[in-house]
Amino acid sequence: SKRILSGIKPSGDLNIGGYVGALQQFVKLQEEYEGYFFVPDLHAITVPQDPKELRERSRQIAALYIAAGVDPVRNTIFMQSHVPAHVELGWIMETQAYFGEMSRMTQFKEKSDGKDAVSSALFTYPALMAADILLYQATHVPVGEDQKQHLELTRDLATRFNNRFGKTFILPEPVIQEVGARVMGLDDPSKKMSKSNPNQNSYVLLLDTPAAIRKKFSKAVTDSDMSVRYDWDNKPAVSNLIEIYSVFSDEEIPVIEKRYEGQGYGAFKKDLAEAVIQKLTPLQERYHELVHSEELDRILKDGARKASEEAHKTLDAAKRAMGLLTF
Ligand code: TYM
Repeated sequence: SKRILSGIKPSGDLNIGGYVGALQQFVKLQEEYEGYFFVPDLHAITVPQDPKELRERSRQIAALYIAAGVDPVRNTIFMQSHVPAHVELGWIMETQAYFGEMSRMTQFKEKSDGKDAVSSALFTYPALMAADILLYQATHVPVGEDQKQHLELTRDLATRFNNRFGKTFILPEPVIQEVGARVMGLDDPSKKMSKSNPNQNSYVLLLDTPAAIRKKFSKAVTDSDMSVRYDWDNKPAVSNLIEIYSVFSDEEIPVIEKRYEGQGYGAFKKDLAEAVIQKLTPLQERYHELVHSEELDRILKDGARKASEEAHKTLDAAKRAMGLLTF
């Protein structure tokens, strides 16, 4: 059977990069796959978090999954820290991961570069991520481009374990879509859209107001060529906007190019903002109903129970295979 697993860290307000690269894929893929969607709160604490904010953001991410259309009845939605098997298999994966290969993880290098208080958990994080995926025997993992290297490591660790101790884990495939795999900043198309950018106009948040969304797209950098053409080499800023437009409007890129042929950027940017607002308005309504509801508590409790049951099958198999005593 085909099973997907994925998660979005509760470490910053979710921007449309995470929606385009990951969340909207979850919603599409649930039609075909059995889904496990979790909130990687243990990943978030690899860098300092304010406890009150972490608590709030963890609920936010779970509520956003559902508000975006992930069906909590058909899928399992849960908090990572509610299923301790993640940490146990994470440790086991660390025993299989080499210091050298972990040192080559570009996300670690980026996040630790120039900082002096880097936690050891930030370094070992990809082994925990491998455990997240392998525990549920996920066949497919929908993510943005920036997670590809972590997926490759996951496959390497699973292969190494299977070769040493017998076939225990399924090798997961990344699902990275062609359009929207890497949403870039609205101020600079050479940098990934990220909440850590101090320029607030560089990103659109899923919970931004319509006025903020209109303002941010109207200020987005373009180029002096004045044509709505998809061409990453020569027109990266415009190509980035076209990709966002395509995902939010569910229209193919050539259709969008055709519509604005012979026009400048004004109407294109306005319509882009409206396409985003149209998708986000109902999402935000549902989000506000859910985020502090008992319904959400119930979904997460239920999800933790279902996830634990599934996770324990794999954890026990891995322990037995390695020679750890199980009863
Ligand atoms: P995180 O929380 O940084 O990002 C969540 C998802 O959003 C995607 N994404 C983007 N996609 C396109 N353009 C962008 N600008 C953009 N920004 C973020 C990411 O690629 C990701 O898919 N390590 C993971 C969380 C995680 C996980 C897992 C994911 C932990 N365990 C197991 C899958 C399976 C992370 O930090 O993603």
